[in-house]
This record gives sequence, C-alpha cells and structure tokens, in this order.
Amino acid sequence: MMVPKCCLFDLDGVLVDTARFHYMAWKQLADALGFTFTEADNERLKGVSRMESLDILLQIGELSPSQEEKNRFADEKNEVYLKNIQQMTPDDLLPGVRNFLKEVRKKGLLVGLGSASKNARLILEKTNLASMFDVIIDGNLISQAKPNPEVFALGAHLLGIENNSCVVFEDAVAGIQAAHNAGMKCIGIGSSEILWEADKVFPAISHVRISDLIFS
Ligand code: BG6
Ligand code: MG
Repeated sequence: MMVPKCCLFDLDGVLVDTARFHYMAWKQLADALGFTFTEADNERLKGVSRMESLDILLQIGELSPSQEEKNRFADEKNEVYLKNIQQMTPDDLLPGVRNFLKEVRKKGLLVGLGSASKNARLILEKTNLASMFDVIIDGNLISQAKPNPEVFALGAHLLGIENNSCVVFEDAVAGIQAAHNAGMKCIGIGSSEILWEADKVFPAISHVRISDLIFS
C-alpha cells in the first residue's frame, strides 16, 4: 500500500480551465498560417512547453520557418493567451479545487505545483491560489519538458519528500509519463480513453476523495 506524503498538481487543465485558452491561441496562429488545427491535434500540446508546442504545431502545418520567425510566432501566441487570461478571477478555478487543496493540507500532506507554463504564477495570483502551495515549480525553473520527470522531481526534492511518496494530478499524457518517469503515482483528470496510462482517472478534481490518494 502507498500512502502519499505530498500531492503535486499540474495547473492548466487540472486546477484551471486554461487548456481552452491555450488551444484558442494556437488555433489563431494556425489559422493565420493557413492550416487546420483541431482539438484532437491539441491533445499533443497539453503539458508540453511553449516552444515544443510550436514545433508540434508547425509539424502539423508542414512548415519549417527560421528560428527568428519561430520566436515571433511563440511571442504572438503568448500575447493572445495573456490577453485571455487577464480576466481570470478566483471564480475561474475548476469546481472543487480550493476545497480539495484545503482538505489535502488538513490531512497534513504537502502541496506542490508542477507546471510547464511560464505564466503559472500569474494564474495562481489571479485565482488567489498561490498561498495554498508549499512549492511552485513552473516553466521558468525547468529546462526539460514533460514527459521528462524534472518538473515533478524538483518539486519533491525541494519539499524533501521521496519521489515514491508523491501523487501527481495531470490532464496530459506527457504529464502522466513525466510522473511515472519520476517514480510517482499519477491521477489522471479527464477522459480515461485518453489518460489510460494513469494509475486512476477521474473526470474532474471534484470527483476525487482523500481516500482515492491511497494506492494498493
Ligand atoms: C502547459 C500547458 O501547462 O504549459 C501547455 O498544458 C502550454 O499547453 C505549456 O504550452 C506552456 O505554457 P506557457 O504559458 O509557458 O506558454
Ligand atoms: Mg495540464
């Protein structure tokens, strides 16, 4: 039996519904570049860093622009994304998130963020969630994108917890693989058809009970 000492949460798509803002911003770029980018394509971008997402997008569009153009495209996408998230408030947290984090903390578990996003802190501030975290690892602190385990391993290390005592919450296939590559358990948040690699899958955080954090 595994009883965790810490929960590490992905941000986009787990705590806040920003996945659709990322999708909208990438789609706007694809439209401008003249190719179709679908929601199914977007699954491949979830959890992946901004530049790697751009590489996947350009592969789908069969384009190979210069590095300079790529930087410009990434900046343009981020501007659109930032404009969309400016309006976020604590009401934009996904249902049950604040309560679940409170409950986890009340049980004495440590709480960390493990996000690929360089905008993670801004979102945590806008949603008034930053104070719930004992450690915040974001895209500015890591050099290796999920499925590399760096983001979660660094979180566990800074909390002083063994990797195998951590449970990760993820909505992305790359994130589940990152958790497993770190030797951690993973709860998938979303569809079990997509997230079948996770140890358990729930449609949303609001469906997870504290007892679900125990693994046989
Ligand atoms: C991840 C998202 O959390 O962060 C990805 O799932 C996103 O879709 C990545 O590309 C990087 O985010 P940002 O905000 O640094 O562009
Ligand atoms: Mg995510």
